[in-house]
Amino acid sequence: MTDTLPLPREVVSFVRRGSRMTSSQRQWLDRFGPHYLVEVERTSRVTAIPPQAPLDLAATFGRRAPLVVELGGGHGETISHAAARHPDVDYLGFEVFEAALASTVGKLAAAGLTNVRLIAGDGVDGLTHLLTPASVQEIWAFFPDPWHKSRHHKRRLVSPGFAALAADRLVPGGVLRLATDWADYAEWMAGVLADCPAFERQDSGRFPDRPLTKYEERGLRQGRSIHDLTYRRRPTPPREPGRP
Ligand SMILES: C[S@@+](CC[C@H](N)C(=O)[O-])C[C@H]1O[C@@H](n2cnc3c(N)ncnc32)[C@H](O)[C@@H]1O
Repeated sequence: MTDTLPLPREVVSFVRRGSRMTSSQRQWLDRFGPHYLVEVERTSRVTAIPPQAPLDLAATFGRRAPLVVELGGGHGETISHAAARHPDVDYLGFEVFEAALASTVGKLAAAGLTNVRLIAGDGVDGLTHLLTPASVQEIWAFFPDPWHKSRHHKRRLVSPGFAALAADRLVPGGVLRLATDWADYAEWMAGVLADCPAFERQDSGRFPDRPLTKYEERGLRQGRSIHDLTYRRRPTPPREPGRP
């Protein structure tokens, strides 16, 4: 979560195993990890999720329910808050930072939540390979990355390719929710999404399921304002008569 100079994706290792974990985090992970962490096929690049069969959602959650996917949930404040408020919805979180995953597991276990699963790995890979078209009700990426400066735009999570992928995985009428504390990144996000015809922007204030996280608090303390952006996946247009 530090604003260091980005490296090419291939050589980045976000999973800092062990070194940054507190003993409580280690205990939470050991004790409750098996309840929440979904194992997927791996490659040698630690955070990558390679092509493989998509998740069997019914088996993963033990039921069928609307699915919300969170990318880069950090220490799990949002996913635990939302999942407690909506027991009838399933939540799948992707996070690349092991200590953050451990904190998330701790919060989920403390609240006794059963409607959340987590995957240690790259959320874009996860959306690409583990989820099928029109299978997700909402996709969330709140304060997705520190690459807010325009010269880092190639590193940003929100890109034209990401917009197309998110649109494809969302059900028609599904929602993409983004937030950032950087005005120039918000502007970039709005530009990228405006160019994606599958999305229409919704008026949004602060999303009630998004609690104040430590990350957001820091942005506010440093004098930045928060930009919430919400987009609805347009329903698939009806076919014109006589056209295939
Ligand atoms: C700035 S923090 C924000 C955390 C949280 N969403 C919040 O609102 O406080 C961004 C988080 O995204 C994670 N992350 C960054 N890129 C990711 C990716 N491609 N897939 C999954 N997690 C990612 C980082 O490890 C970090 O925990």
